[in-house]
Amino acid sequence: MTQWTPAQQSAIHADNRDILVSAAAGSGKTSVLIERIMEKLRQGMSIERMLIITFTRAASAEMRERLEKAIAKEAGHSAHLRQQYALLSNADISTLHTYCSKIIKRHFQAAGVDPMSRVDDTGQAARLLDEAVDSTITELYESPGADGQALIDHYPDKDIEAMLRRLYTFLLSQDDPWTWLHAQQELPTADTLHDHIWYQVTLHEARQLLSGAQQLIAECVDIAQSPGGPARYLNNATLDGEMADILAEALDGTGRLPEGVDPVFSDLSRAKAAEDEQPELVAAFKARRDSVKKMLLEVCAMLPASREQCQLWIDQMAFTLPPLRALCKTVEQLHQAYTHLKRRRTLWDFNDLEHLALQALKTRWPRAMWRNPWTRCLWTNIRTSPASRRPSSCASASRPTCSWWAMSSKASTASAWPIRGCFCTNMSSLKKTATPRGG
Ligand SMILES: Nc1ncnc2c1ncn2[C@@H]1O[C@H](COP(=O)(O)OP(=O)(O)OP(=O)(O)O)[C@@H](O)[C@H]1O
Ligand SMILES: [Mg+2]
Repeated sequence: MTQWTPAQQSAIHADNRDILVSAAAGSGKTSVLIERIMEKLRQGMSIERMLIITFTRAASAEMRERLEKAIAKEAGHSAHLRQQYALLSNADISTLHTYCSKIIKRHFQAAGVDPMSRVDDTGQAARLLDEAVDSTITELYESPGADGQALIDHYPDKDIEAMLRRLYTFLLSQDDPWTWLHAQQELPTADTLHDHIWYQVTLHEARQLLSGAQQLIAECVDIAQSPGGPARYLNNATLDGEMADILAEALDGTGRLPEGVDPVFSDLSRAKAAEDEQPELVAAFKARRDSVKKMLLEVCAMLPASREQCQLWIDQMAFTLPPLRALCKTVEQLHQAYTHLKRRRTLWDFNDLEHLALQALKTRWPRAMWRNPWTRCLWTNIRTSPASRRPSSCASASRPTCSWWAMSSKASTASAWPIRGCFCTNMSSLKKTATPRGG
């Protein structure tokens, strides 16, 4: 009988919330997931009410096999577990793409697709995408229209192609790419500016700049207080720190520059230098303070203070709208051209599987059919892919009451972002007590 560590136990038993377990390879994520499933089965839940998603087919096979062994071990004592053992062959334990294929094939009319299509695993889809990019860009240059001309005039050819590809890849990671795309072409008002994505990006950059400035201010304080340091400048660093604090508060609050904040910096104290003051420390202080001044001024220049300044911001955004609109229109044309090429060859790529499944689940009949079939949704070893970045969107059609995620700590941080806010159990201490693989 496995002696679960306290961290494992909390991951096994935590309930009524989403859980993310992040731990090193071989430290017991799958074991914990199996035990968590077993706990639910022992309590009388049916395996038919669980959706268990893995990243690879090998992981699905491993999960099924380990679960089969775990149920078999206890089936002698329980009629319910014997029944679960019989149900296991039909249980939904698969990769996300297999699961999506199942939905699409069952609801091909709702998804609006040819059920005979096959998933591309030979790289043909990538070649079709290149073909679609070529034809779309040719079309842009042949009949650009006013917006398209603005795009061509503003950006070199190779940048246009790179932006188009990046935008398309990014769009495919959205639940509802085209609604999102259209929203980006709307200009905000002074009241909604704060929520606009461009403004949010600016705020993010301003925060980063400010945090760099605060770091330098802290170094100035240290230098001023160190033996031989210019103690007479300490007050200047303190005043700079106060200005940085006001800006930080504004960035986290209204997101606007507080009216009346005047980025004027105190003159360096002219008090007589102490006898032991060292010129290198004075120079180090001054160099840092010069950078601080530049950075704080830059933060102030990034943010509007008044409604009038917000309007100036919006006017500048309006200036960039024509090339942006052209890029958005071109990416829609690219999508149509690429979809057309794939349909002619009855081909799906992996992104199609996710989007078509979502599309099917959004229509009335499949939605009614799939409503609440799952009470638990379990994902293992999540890595970066459009699907794994947004698993909740697929699961939302079935609205599981609780999700469980196991993530190998070698997975990149990018894959963790959608699951921020989950109750996280870090099992990194597990290694000390867990028997190594095969041990
Ligand atoms: N608390 C524990 N005590 C003893 N052995 C344990 C414990 N937890 C897990 N193990 C054992 O550690 C080994 C590895 O566990 P497991 O396969 O669940 O790790 P994993 O994190 O899923 O690995 P991977 O990252 O390769 O998917 C297994 O043999 C398992 O039985
Ligand atoms: Mg595992």
